[in-house]
Amino acid sequence: MKMNILILGSGGREHAITWKLAQSSRPLRLFVAPGNPGTAAAAVNLPVDPLDFQGVRAAILENSIGMVIVGPEAPLAEGIADFIENDPALIGVSVIGPRKAGAMLEGSKDFAKGFMMRHGIPTAAYGTFTADSVEEAISFMRGLTPPWVLKADGLAAGKGVLIIDDFDMAVSELRAMLGGRFGSAGSKVVIEEYLRGIEMSAFVITDGISYRILPEAKDYKRIGEGDTGNNTGGMGAVSPVPFATPGFLAKVEEQVIRPTVEGLRAEGIDYRGFIFFGLMNVNGDPYVIEYNARLGDPETEVILPRIESDLYDLLEGVASRDLAVRSIAISPETAVTVMIVSGGYPDRYSKGFAIEGTDKVTRSILFHAGTAAKEGRLVTSGGRVIAVTSMGESIDEALAKSYTAAELISFEGMNFRRDIGFDLKKYTV
Ligand code: AMP
Ligand code: GLY
Repeated sequence: MKMNILILGSGGREHAITWKLAQSSRPLRLFVAPGNPGTAAAAVNLPVDPLDFQGVRAAILENSIGMVIVGPEAPLAEGIADFIENDPALIGVSVIGPRKAGAMLEGSKDFAKGFMMRHGIPTAAYGTFTADSVEEAISFMRGLTPPWVLKADGLAAGKGVLIIDDFDMAVSELRAMLGGRFGSAGSKVVIEEYLRGIEMSAFVITDGISYRILPEAKDYKRIGEGDTGNNTGGMGAVSPVPFATPGFLAKVEEQVIRPTVEGLRAEGIDYRGFIFFGLMNVNGDPYVIEYNARLGDPETEVILPRIESDLYDLLEGVASRDLAVRSIAISPETAVTVMIVSGGYPDRYSKGFAIEGTDKVTRSILFHAGTAAKEGRLVTSGGRVIAVTSMGESIDEALAKSYTAAELISFEGMNFRRDIGFDLKKYTV
């Protein structure tokens, strides 16, 4: 019997998931809502918004979907898993992605910090404040050394974290946040100790009981070379991460991953899906900067190409809660991705430019993000346009392939960072 799978989302992450599942030895039929021209090559795109739960429900019923994989955070935070699992007409449909209660790990910084405190998971010291406790917040800030880290409690599309060197500026930003700058996402603000170290991310898939560790990755969030300029959704990623030694990764598993999965279970949160751990390596010890209740984008574009085993086998293990007997094989090769973006991104940019040259790329994988098909041509339709992923024996070899491929592609205003992995060179021999 064929298994029909619906992947929710439309970015490079969802294209990578589709690409990986298309290689499964199992008889799968893949659907993506809404998808993009990249996913259309291996799946059926359905014109449904993942936040339109009734539309998702109809798509599930119409296409006899047995499994829904949720790519982005917003539908999880809105309760798509609860919605599907509570609907009598959808009995038997499994969801890869936590219910609302589990998605709080990402949806509320205050919840995540409290959770880490309850389970002894290393994280920066913090306090949570509201408009009624501004004075306490200010005196808490006086006790911290600069810079000050202010985080809107709720989802703020990656813009809710401020790191400020000047005390008075930090206080005025705090007042602005509590005054509604980020809407209700900022009605609570988490103020944190600043951690000095180097960042990377770890990923697991869990059925709520056991877990499998996926390849780790490092992403490049800033628009400018040398990690300068504004934050973006991510301009590139590398996996494996050279400074993530076996000893460090063992600490991540013992101090972060295991207590997180066990803590969720102990709190009665039935978490089935991916967990993304944003980590700071502080002198060889891991601290959790943030949790995400999903895979990262563009991290997925380097993680999945390194998984040699069948991804569907792991997903089936989550659905049937026997992940403990499923295995994962990971390639020792390095994967890198370089994100090609629209000129002006992450600020104002135009769309609709014809994309040329993708057919000339043979040694890299092109994961579509902001692309669209218009009158039979591929055009830009978003800020992040295409993630160019390559594999190699080394970071340099993989990067050389991605940069060669990027040079073959062109559209008006096209931009990409030419220094992905620049900070990792000192760790490689
Ligand atoms: P987040 O949105 O939680 O990922 O935070 C955005 C970025 O802010 C992170 O990727 C880190 O680079 C930085 N950051 C967040 N919290 C801290 C902290 N406590 N210390 C240092 N940097 C931080
Ligand atoms: N690349 C960071 C994220 O997906 O949140």
